[in-house]
Amino acid sequence: MTTSKRGIEVLQDPLLNKSTAFAESEKEALGLVGIVPDATETEDLQLQRVMLQLAAKPTDLERYIYLINLLDHNETLFYRTIMSDPARFLPIVYDPTIGEACLKFGHIYRQPHGMYLSMARRGKVKEVLKNWPQKDIRFICVTDGGRILGLGDLGANGMGIPIGKLQLYTACAGVPPQYLLPMYLDAGTNNEQYLHDPLYLGMRKTRPSTEDLYSFVDEFMQAVQEVFPKCCVHFEDWTGVDAVHLLQRFRDKYCVYNDDVQGTAGIVLAGMINAAKIKGKKVSDERYLFLGAGSAGIGLADLLCSAMVQEGLTLQDGQGHVYMFDINGLLETTRPDLVDFQRPYAHKHAPTRDFVAAIESIKPTAIIGVSTVGGTFTQRVIEAMSRINERPVVLALSNPTEHAECTPEQAYTWSNGKAIYAAGVQFPPVHFKGQTFLPGQANNFYIFPAIGMAVFATQASRITDEMFIEAARAVADQVSSDLLKQGLLYPLQSNILETEIQTAARVAKLVFDSRLARVERPADMVAFIRDHVYKPVYGKGPALATKAA
Ligand code: NAI
Repeated sequence: MTTSKRGIEVLQDPLLNKSTAFAESEKEALGLVGIVPDATETEDLQLQRVMLQLAAKPTDLERYIYLINLLDHNETLFYRTIMSDPARFLPIVYDPTIGEACLKFGHIYRQPHGMYLSMARRGKVKEVLKNWPQKDIRFICVTDGGRILGLGDLGANGMGIPIGKLQLYTACAGVPPQYLLPMYLDAGTNNEQYLHDPLYLGMRKTRPSTEDLYSFVDEFMQAVQEVFPKCCVHFEDWTGVDAVHLLQRFRDKYCVYNDDVQGTAGIVLAGMINAAKIKGKKVSDERYLFLGAGSAGIGLADLLCSAMVQEGLTLQDGQGHVYMFDINGLLETTRPDLVDFQRPYAHKHAPTRDFVAAIESIKPTAIIGVSTVGGTFTQRVIEAMSRINERPVVLALSNPTEHAECTPEQAYTWSNGKAIYAAGVQFPPVHFKGQTFLPGQANNFYIFPAIGMAVFATQASRITDEMFIEAARAVADQVSSDLLKQGLLYPLQSNILETEIQTAARVAKLVFDSRLARVERPADMVAFIRDHVYKPVYGKGPALATKAA
């Protein structure tokens, strides 16, 4: 990329700005002499200054605001910062801080960072998309703010989610940021508080009928194909029913996936593969009871069944290993309120609204919390699981932190150190009776950025469930036996870029094997992925630009 910009304009462009790192020749060529300090610093020295300034911030929300401000001024330095220590920065640019940022989004807003597409633009979606300055977009992450994390309908405040999710494509797997477009599809909100907040940024309307919404999403999907023909659409944080139905509607027609459905399923499958491995078993040897039967629960149940089919079970047998319990009790055949996609998991069983009674009757080996409700894995629940199982598997996935069904400390204490535990958020190690346990974080960020990188590099035309199963197996395979012994089900976050490169390479291989790639097959898949990885390094010379890939 060359630029005709000069002087202050260069500093105002986050893609060109090198702040204090311009070489003398660049300062002269770009009219920056005297506008920036005489010193010429390296990226690492700049990073030191960022770290100093971050350390002076009192809260993670303040650090989030600081980092987003940095992104507005200097994209390379922003990514250099978060990629320098992913374990430290992912909880700031994404969950749990992002939940707090979303709640206050209209109040802390500074720059758009993506597109706002409201249903008021019906009939003109293509024209709106053409306003985006980048023309080669490979991923749009889109939410309607319908169910943000476990926080409910946040409407336009949900925009923090696609922004954060796409930053993780880059930070975790090296997908170059210029190909990524966060999008808020504004269908109004039923959140009374925001409807009455003068600083709320979305349409002040309650949500439309499903039919109305879906026909607008149809126009959006069609427009994306026309304006960005190589683009994959990632749906994020829609309500459970919309998430599942929109995925069913588009999955065979477009390159599309839903991270809440498929990404969650992939990462939990990875955890279940390792939990079973610790016990010397396979996923098809386990019996699962879910607390929560929404988009995350159903996506996971479906993927677990596909994985069990790969292990030799019939689909019906696989479904027989999965039970679900939601706000109205156990899903069973007499329940009149179930939706189509829940029925395969409604088995013959007496109705019950008592989760402990369901555990005692069904005798699951694993309980999986995707209920959005904190504290629902009570002491009675964990004790019941521990009576039935030598090593009960307890996955408490709801987030943010206070929504986790139980904490690791509770799981290890109440099970007397027997539980194999993971959560949806990061918890510190737990010391119990002289042992140190490492609670893993079943976070989708091990899966979707790697899928994103594989799709980006191969230009895959579709995203399939098999790609998520392969990603899950690749993630699971990267946990050493030493870490498994300490109860850790997932790889360490400190090495996340390398983990995702290996995962992306395995998924890319599957994309080629499935004939879904639109580029030539390379000889060395890992090297091929590495060639596509973004590096947070400034471009050099007067015609400078950040390095794309
Ligand atoms: P959803 O709103 O679609 O489904 C929630 C389900 O929980 C519904 O079936 C509902 O009936 C049930 N439920 C609500 N209250 C309950 C109660 N007191 N007892 C039993 N069941 C109850 O939500 P979705 O998309 O399925 O997400 C669920 C949770 O999973 C959220 O907290 C979300 O943050 C978390 N999640 C975690 C991920 C991860 O850690 N990797 C990824 C995606 C979601």
